[in-house]
Amino acid sequence: MSGTKLYEGKAKILFTTDDPNILLSRYKDDATAFNALKKGTIANKGEMNCAIASHIFQYLEKQGLATHFIQQVSPNEMQVSAVQILPIEVVVRNIAAGSICKRLGLPQGQELKQPLVEFFYKNDDLGDPLITDAHVAMLELATPEQVVQLKKLALDINHHLQAFFDRCSLILVDFKVEIGTDASGRLLLADEISPDTCRLWDKAIADPSDRIMDKDRFRQDLGNIAEAYQEVMKRVLAV
Ligand SMILES: Nc1ncnc2c1ncn2[C@@H]1O[C@H](COP(=O)(O)OP(=O)(O)OP(=O)(O)O)[C@@H](O)[C@H]1O
Ligand SMILES: [Mg+2]
Repeated sequence: MSGTKLYEGKAKILFTTDDPNILLSRYKDDATAFNALKKGTIANKGEMNCAIASHIFQYLEKQGLATHFIQQVSPNEMQVSAVQILPIEVVVRNIAAGSICKRLGLPQGQELKQPLVEFFYKNDDLGDPLITDAHVAMLELATPEQVVQLKKLALDINHHLQAFFDRCSLILVDFKVEIGTDASGRLLLADEISPDTCRLWDKAIADPSDRIMDKDRFRQDLGNIAEAYQEVMKRVLAV
C-alpha cells in the first residue's frame, strides 16, 4: 500500500509509494547521539538536512556516482530508490576525531597521511562495533567483491565531498555512509549526507570548539546547534 510507514529510525521515516522501487524518506528534527543515550531535537533539522542531502546527492550524481536520490518532493521529504542496505556503516576519516582518538590514542585533529576507510557492523544492540574484512566475510555482510567496491566507492565519495566542502570553506574531517543494492544488484549510495553524518570544521576558525559545524555541537553541548546547521545549509546551497 502506498504511504505506509515502512520504518521509523532516529532521524528519518521511510514510507512506501505507489512504485515498489521508490520510497519516501522524511527527515525529522529529532537528534540522538551515543547510540540514542542522548536525545533531543534541533529546530528545523529535518528541513535543513533534507535540503543539504538533496543538494549533495545531486552533486555526487553529477560527478558520476550512483545514489538513491530521485527528487526532493517537500522541504523535509525526498523520493529515493528502494535498496537493500548492507549492514555495514562505512566511515572515511581524513582527520582524527571522535571514537578513533579514544580507540587508538590519537590526538583530536591529527591529520591522517591518507584517508582511512573503516567498517562498523550496523547493529544498534551491539553498539555498531568496528569490524574488519574478515568479520564482514564471516558474518556474510557483503561479498568479497562488494568489499572491494565499497572501499573504492567510499574513497571516491570522500574525494568529491572534500572538494565540495572546501568550496564551502568547510573541512571534511570524517563521514559515515550507508550503501545498498538496488533490484539489479547495483550498489547505490543511500541514507543521508548531512551535518548529522559528517564532521565539518569551519576552515576560517582555529578554536577547536568554535570551528565545529556538525552534530558534535549536540553531542558535546556546545550550543548554537541549529545555527551551525543553518550556516552549513547556506554554504552548501550556494555551491
Ligand atoms: N534507499 C533506501 N532504501 C531502504 N532503506 C534505506 C534507504 N536509505 C536509508 N535507508 C534506511 O532507512 C533508515 C533511515 O532512518 P534513520 O537514519 O532514522 O535510522 P537510524 O535511526 O539511524 O537507525 P538505523 O540506521 O540503525 O536503522 C535507516 O535504517 C537506513 O539504513
Ligand atoms: Mg541514520
